Amino acid sequence: MSSLWHARLTSAFLCLFLASPAQALDQDIKDLMQELLRGMAAIQEGILMDDYTKIATNAEAIVYHRGPNADARLAISNELGIEVPTFQILNDSVRRKARTLKQAAEDNDQKDVLNAYNELTKACTRCHNNYRKRLRRIN
Ligand code: HEC
Repeated sequence: MSSLWHARLTSAFLCLFLASPAQALDQDIKDLMQELLRGMAAIQEGILMDDYTKIATNAEAIVYHRGPNADARLAISNELGIEVPTFQILNDSVRRKARTLKQAAEDNDQKDVLNAYNELTKACTRCHNNYRKRLRRIN
């Protein structure tokens, strides 16, 4: 076999090998984010329907949302290195804002609910602004 063919076959093999965990990672982060999006949509519905139970339940689900799976966590830490703690702080901030929102909903306080919802949305976009493009690159 010529060395060119050998190189081609090797890289084709490597691509096959590398493509699947990367896609699994992409899918896991996207699934996780879609879960958060559905929670936010349900909260907005709760706000517009004056359904404070719906707001509180969905805010609580965001407080305790699952993390990325083990493969995704590994790929994130490989890409972000020493910035992993910053990434985690941004994620913790989402949980904290969601907790504040849950409390405001339990108090039936519309003004606080609106403020907390706004703060929570900002916490989501803060991580997106910093890391979304970068983590999309590892897909
Ligand atoms: C700690 C970081 C971080 C936080 C906090 C975060 N996200 Fe994301 N989000 C990401 C990354 C990274 C992507 C890009 C994923 C990709 O394209 O593979 C993303 C993508 C998304 C997407 C697009 C998914 C798709 O199918 O393309 C949605 C929707 C989303 N996030 C919603 C949210 C919501 C809602 C919150 C807050 C409740 C939130 N995110 C908080 C990191 C974060």
